[in-house]
Amino acid sequence: MLIAQLSDPHIFARGELMEGVVDTAANLSLALASLEEVAPTPDFVVLTGDLVNDGDSDQYDHLKELLGSRLESFIVVAGNHDDRTGLRTLFPQLSAVGSGDDPIDYVIDVERDGRSISLIILDTTVPGEHSGLLDATQLEWLDNQLAERRDDEVLIVQHHPPFRSGIGFMDTYGLHDAEAEAAVVAKYPNVAAVISGHLHRPATASWAGTVAFASPSTAAQVSPSFNGESTSYTGEPGMLSLHWWTGAGVTSHVQPIGDNGRWVPEWAK
Ligand SMILES: [Fe+2]
Ligand SMILES: [Fe+2]
Repeated sequence: MLIAQLSDPHIFARGELMEGVVDTAANLSLALASLEEVAPTPDFVVLTGDLVNDGDSDQYDHLKELLGSRLESFIVVAGNHDDRTGLRTLFPQLSAVGSGDDPIDYVIDVERDGRSISLIILDTTVPGEHSGLLDATQLEWLDNQLAERRDDEVLIVQHHPPFRSGIGFMDTYGLHDAEAEAAVVAKYPNVAAVISGHLHRPATASWAGTVAFASPSTAAQVSPSFNGESTSYTGEPGMLSLHWWTGAGVTSHVQPIGDNGRWVPEWAK
């Protein structure tokens, strides 16, 4: 099982750049093109939130154009820059997942090579806020879904990382009361990993008896500044993540988008 993750593309209306600097649409197109070079073809492509920058319909129209005919194939996760109704309007695969402003929480169960595999998608967003939270109803739902899948391999997918990164402003706008989620997840050793976005920086943490991963963004990366004061971005390229998931667990890779070239060393020829 190979899962590709594109996170935080932050699409603007046509012709607008992020902060006048980053062409986020070009980056998303490059990320999608990069996936064409991945072998084998990923089983799933997850979009882990902040698909657009301001939840505007103009921005979702632009996103639709960029995603093209692949629109219905993506696993969609809500981010704090998204609008739940906007996501529901754009992605028909969400039509059975609540309505209006309900949290976009759902499960995908598949059988692969004799393995029962489940992806649990959690909506950590709070409308109008940049920080995240899972409320008591969602945590109970998560507990129930995990209890039903004790014998399966489970991956949890959400926008806000459940761990503190050490990067001050990102933690300020991080997942509040992550300890409550940890208390649920820690009961289930079959959770192979938690993958997330929001951080705009690759990071992993040991968390709740499993591994939690934050993907970099296809658009722009946050500076790895740990002094608690600086809020800045880097000139690093957009990136994507690839999760190779075997019966032994999840191995997560990060790579810059675009054509990174390829060469063969003498000893391997
Ligand atoms: Fe973001
Ligand atoms: Fe975010």
